[in-house]
This record gives sequence, C-alpha cells and structure tokens, in this order.
Amino acid sequence: MNNPCDAPDPRGQPAGTNPRSTEDRRAIGNGYTAALVTASDGILVTGGAGFVGATLVRRLVTSGYRVRVLDNLSTGDAAHLADVDAELVKGDIRDAAVLDDTIEGLGVIIHLAAAGSVIGSVQDPGTNFEVNVLGTFRVLDAARRAGVGRVVLASTGGALIGDATPPVNEGSLPKPISPYGASKLAGEGYAHAFAKTYGVRTVAIRFGNVYGPWCARKRGVLNVFFESIHSGVPLIIYGDGSASRDYVHVDDISNALQLALEKDVPGGTVLHAASGVETTVRDLADLCRRAAGVPDHPIEYRPKRAGEVDRNFASYDLANQMLGYAPSVAREIGIPRTWKWFQAEVFRD
Ligand SMILES: NC(=O)c1ccc[n+]([C@@H]2O[C@H](COP(=O)([O-])OP(=O)(O)OC[C@H]3O[C@@H](n4cnc5c(N)ncnc54)[C@H](O)[C@@H]3O)[C@@H](O)[C@H]2O)c1
Repeated sequence: MNNPCDAPDPRGQPAGTNPRSTEDRRAIGNGYTAALVTASDGILVTGGAGFVGATLVRRLVTSGYRVRVLDNLSTGDAAHLADVDAELVKGDIRDAAVLDDTIEGLGVIIHLAAAGSVIGSVQDPGTNFEVNVLGTFRVLDAARRAGVGRVVLASTGGALIGDATPPVNEGSLPKPISPYGASKLAGEGYAHAFAKTYGVRTVAIRFGNVYGPWCARKRGVLNVFFESIHSGVPLIIYGDGSASRDYVHVDDISNALQLALEKDVPGGTVLHAASGVETTVRDLADLCRRAAGVPDHPIEYRPKRAGEVDRNFASYDLANQMLGYAPSVAREIGIPRTWKWFQAEVFRD
C-alpha cells in the first residue's frame, strides 16, 4: 500500500492525457516545478465542519483557495466555520448523487468525513463501516467520475497498525485491533486501488492523535481531561497510565494536509504525519494539570478498554522526505495554548 504507482487516467485514457494531469499543470524549466494544485483550483473538504476541518479550512481559505465543505453535521458544527469564507453544503458522503453535485466545478478533494471514534466503532461497527468504508469508496468513486486531480485522505497511525513496537512507520504491518482501525485500512486500500486502476492521485495521511482548538465536541482524552479539571472531578485513566500516544497539534496536521495537496507525490502514497514523540496517558495528565495550573488535581484509575492500543508513536521521516513535513508545535507549547482556547471558547460561563 505504500508503493507509488504509475497509473492510467481516471476515465480510461492513458496517463498524461487527462486534462488535469500533472504534466498539464507544471511548467518545467530551470528546475522549476509548479505546485500540483494551485489556489485557482477549488477544493472540496468532506467533513470540513469538524475539529480538524475548522483549522484546515481556515488555512486553505487564507492561502487563497476556494473551499466547499460537504458535511452532514453529525459530529461537526456549522458554527466551526461561522466566520470563514467557505461554502458549506449539508449532505452525506454515502450519497453518490450528493457527491457528484458537490464536486461540480472543483479540482481536488480533502476527505476528512468519518465516524472517528474507536470506542464508537466497538459499540456500532456497522455504522462505522458504512461511513468510513462505503463513504470513502463513494468519495473515491465520485473523484474518478469527475476526473479530480488529487484526493487527500485522512487516515490514522495507531488504530490502523494496532499493537506494534513503536515508532511505527509506513513499513509497519497493519494489524488493526478495532473496527475503526480496520475501516481506515480499507479506505487506504481503496485509495491505492483507485490510484493504480483509474489514476486517481490519492495520498493518505496517517494522523497521530490530533489536539488543538475546536476539539471540544470530540471525546478525545485531552478535552475529557480539560473538562474534568474545569468541573473539579478526578481525571479518569483507563489502564495503569503507561499507554502512550503521539499527540500532534492540529496546525501541524493541517500543514501536512496542505503539503499533501500541493506536492507532486505519486498516487497511492501513504505517509505518517505525527509528532514523533511518545506521551503516556500519565504524562498527558501531568501536562494538562500543569497547563491548567492545578498540578495536584486528582487522578482515578479504571480497567483498560477494549479496542485501544497500548503504545503508539510514529516516525514522520518519509513525510519529511516527500512533503517537507515537520511538526512545529511542541506539546509543552500546544497543550497550554489549547487550555487557553478552552477557557476562552468553551469554559466561558
Ligand atoms: N482527531 C484525531 O485525533 C484523528 C486521528 C486520526 C485520524 N483522524 C481522522 O481525521 C478526520 C477528521 O477527524 P476529526 O477529528 O476532525 O473528527 P470530527 O468528528 O470532528 O470530524 C468529522 C466530520 O465529518 C462529518 N461527517 C461524519 N460522517 C459524515 C457523513 N456520513 N457524511 C458527511 N459528513 C460526515 C462530521 O459531521 C464531522 O464534521 C477523520 O477522518 C478521522 O478519522 C482524526
């Protein structure tokens, strides 16, 4: 799944004859290669009203892109994009006709829409499959029909690879241990197949655990910790606190997604975008308590939950080589900054 490919044109023409192909886009001379995608290309961002979308869409609009968001607002919120110059279409990625209409006139797709919870996928694997596997298939198939030049997909590192000795990288063998991880692996499989078969220029970015502004509607551990601190209740740690994750700031993930859009990497590419730093849940609890100025806030331990990996962090070396990606927000800066955002935007009362 990691191998780049030489693929034919999405609509059955040989590579190079697609009007949106790389060859048509770049001007070669004196070593200059234009970006694969430029600001004049309109972008469809599925799931753009969610947590990652709120930062990504702002970034793309600021960079001069015309952005249309397709979101069913199941976990997202129109308010996330209230002051942003982007079009919001309410609709479902499982609906092929909605996708055909929404892609109209746009050249590229960033596909974020998903049922994004590991625990939710354990409780309801059927819905997770429909949104993440069927939904991703529908997005890719619509991209193929429309001859879209680039599809960047949000994937995941930890949940997809499962329990492996970290740091994981693109060569690690995926062995998901939750329906969510399996659904993301299936999405990557279709992305690679559509690159090989139809020439859809896909890039899957495997995120670490993302945190930052606009994550308040998520049930991620960082915002659950912040809410517990704010409400004066103990932080709950499932397991003994040694489970680890790779916490990456949403600004860095948005940068990785924009780079994946603009850099001319081959279709079918898969890359990890992470912090490269291992943080245990216990460390995270300490970072959150310090950020909030309550270093002795109580912690309670409960039994480990099914479907969650023990240790995870990822190497971003390949993303660095292929995209020039490197994280820029250290957790010691990003976590206190996120606490301030929660105080200003969520804990206002
Ligand atoms: N946040 C993380 O730590 C993390 C880690 C790894 C991967 N990811 C992936 O990144 C992407 C974005 O995640 P997020 O954290 O912003 O989650 P999110 O839940 O905030 O955003 C997902 C968005 O997709 C929308 N959506 C869900 N189902 C839809 C459907 N059927 N049709 C249209 N829209 C739909 C939701 O309303 C929401 O706005 C997801 O693909 C997720 O799996 C996130």
